[in-house]
Amino acid sequence: MEKNEYQFFFETYNSLAELDPAESALLIEARKMILNAYAPYSNFKVGAAAELINSRVVGGSNQENASFPAGICAERVLLSAVSFLYPGIPIRRIAISYQNAKGNSDHPIFPCGVCRQSLVEYEQRVKQPIRLILGGEAGKVIVIPKASQLLPLAFTGEEIQ
Ligand code: THU
Repeated sequence: MEKNEYQFFFETYNSLAELDPAESALLIEARKMILNAYAPYSNFKVGAAAELINSRVVGGSNQENASFPAGICAERVLLSAVSFLYPGIPIRRIAISYQNAKGNSDHPIFPCGVCRQSLVEYEQRVKQPIRLILGGEAGKVIVIPKASQLLPLAFTGEEIQ
């Protein structure tokens, strides 16, 4: 028997002002995307913005449905938009922000499990890690160097043959 350990490093910034200018600009873009959320059921609005390696920026926001499971998170709306608009182009980084029902948003949130799975597969498809910039409308910002670090021992399509 062998014991294994999984470890990863991430960065915490005290505010947007401490970020690299390209990353603070992307987080500001993600905050703008909150405005396009359709979240009448949860009143939890999420905005996401991706910067591709060709420097294009694509946005996404959560889109809910009266049949609740049909709703889609901002991250997967974003990945679908990127795949359609710029097929096969690697994503350099994605910023994610949000607003709750009270309009509060002062710390980062992390992508849900399903979105982690989709982010990992996008990284694998284009063979490039996606850097995640996570922040509310105020407060600390957390940067995860590679989305796949949030989903250790992930199931991948390699076994489906
Ligand atoms: N949501 C996202 O868009 N991204 C996340 O990472 C977490 C959750 C959405 C789904 C749903 O519309 C609402 O937030 C409440 O769960």
